[in-house]
Amino acid sequence: MGYEIDFNKEVVIITGAAMGIGAAMARVFAKANAQVVIFDVVDEETAKETIAACKEVGPEPLYLKVDISDEEAVKTNVKAVADKYGHIDMLINNAGINKDWDLSFAVNVKGTYYMSEACREYLAKVGGRVVVVTSASVFSGGTGFPAYNSTKAGSYALGMFLAKNYAKEGIRVNTIAPAVIMSKMMVDRFGSEEAVREHYRSIMPLGKMGEAEDIGNVALFLCSHMSDYLTGQLIYADGGRSAIG
Ligand SMILES: NC(=O)c1ccc[n+]([C@@H]2O[C@H](COP(=O)([O-])OP(=O)(O)OC[C@H]3O[C@@H](n4cnc5c(N)ncnc54)[C@H](O)[C@@H]3O)[C@@H](O)[C@H]2O)c1
Repeated sequence: MGYEIDFNKEVVIITGAAMGIGAAMARVFAKANAQVVIFDVVDEETAKETIAACKEVGPEPLYLKVDISDEEAVKTNVKAVADKYGHIDMLINNAGINKDWDLSFAVNVKGTYYMSEACREYLAKVGGRVVVVTSASVFSGGTGFPAYNSTKAGSYALGMFLAKNYAKEGIRVNTIAPAVIMSKMMVDRFGSEEAVREHYRSIMPLGKMGEAEDIGNVALFLCSHMSDYLTGQLIYADGGRSAIG
């Protein structure tokens, strides 16, 4: 028999999973038999394709409309999840925005902290796992958006802080730094998916850009027993660009 990751209905809260990378994460975790709970600021209607895609491969996800920069809303909704399922096992801090300084800080840094602290008592009971999504641009200076880069650096620093402070409670915290992932933002910039792919074909070491599911698979690894000895780690998920590009 080969290796298998089966979360056996463990509960994972994924922020910003209505669309983009978070939506792919939701599918990947549903397929691994996790009970996915989506926290996103948009209406449930916007997430209906993501919800349907999860249902096709695993347990029906729970959708909660939550602005993660609102601390009280975060506390109320995390408690509602714990009351409903009796446990919270994993948290993926994926939601991230590229807006002005204050908004970017409110979501990318404070939102990640509010979510982690609200989940902490439940995660501590079960050997919980936390994933933080930063960006490779933090380390390369790329993107051209100072508020984005600075606040994603804040998410990274916060991830390290959480790893250190949660370790004695048995909670593992690891960070993913994606780059060049197919997204709506990329398509808007280059005009079409094919134009995006063509642009990156010659630039990327592996001759291709990343897909949202690639990041979902890294998160899956970081939440699974396969990474039981990892905490406080940063994984670049960028097709080798930072290391050998
Ligand atoms: N796409 C890339 O190439 C790339 C590269 C590096 C890092 N990232 C990071 O990956 C993560 C996901 O990026 P994406 O490209 O899928 O972005 P996206 O814009 O497609 O999705 C972000 C999601 O977060 C939600 N969201 C925004 N503000 C929120 C809030 N206040 N509360 C709850 N949810 C909120 C949005 O509604 C959306 O569903 C982000 O943290 C981003 O910084 C992406």
